[in-house]
Amino acid sequence: MKTRFEVCPAADLGPGERTIADLDGLSVGVFNVDGDYYALKNDCPHQRAPLCEGSLTGLMTAEAPGEFEYGRDGEIVRCPWHGWEFDVTTGESVFNPHRVKAKTFETSVEDSDDPGTVETSEPASANAGRLDFSTGTTADDADTVDTPDNGAETEDGAATDAEATTEADRYGATLAGEEPPVDTYDVDVEEGVVVVYL
Ligand code: FES
Repeated sequence: MKTRFEVCPAADLGPGERTIADLDGLSVGVFNVDGDYYALKNDCPHQRAPLCEGSLTGLMTAEAPGEFEYGRDGEIVRCPWHGWEFDVTTGESVFNPHRVKAKTFETSVEDSDDPGTVETSEPASANAGRLDFSTGTTADDADTVDTPDNGAETEDGAATDAEATTEADRYGATLAGEEPPVDTYDVDVEEGVVVVYL
């Protein structure tokens, strides 16, 4: 049975970044490649250098002689000792992918077993900063409340006609009497932790 290790909050490991973790005595590099997470044993198959400390690069390919193209930037790690290169997403070496591989581990982003140990930028409330809508609207924006000084809100917090008009213009519906809008948005949950199974 595999052992589950929580490595870090997913929000702390952005695209293009990596972290090297000691998981029960085993050094493992965890990489974020364009939003997907991969884990490699920090141990080069050649002469056991700390592979995951090497530089990240891409691949130069050629469709025809003289037609070079650089791609997959950030998906290849180059061993710091002798320069062997490995595909971060598979562990396969670039020069002999079927015979020379770095050890890989299963990764995922999951809820923490112990959320109290996970650093978050927002308190655990229903809305605060948890969802990132592709439209650019955030929960923090939704929390913004106009003050009575600008005439947009009464003392008891009820919206004035001017505010209601603005909301109707913005969302195409008022709260009473009409169907609310049902547009959907891509959502990223930012509360998960990166997990590696050994
Ligand atoms: S130890 Fe990694 S290439 Fe030699």
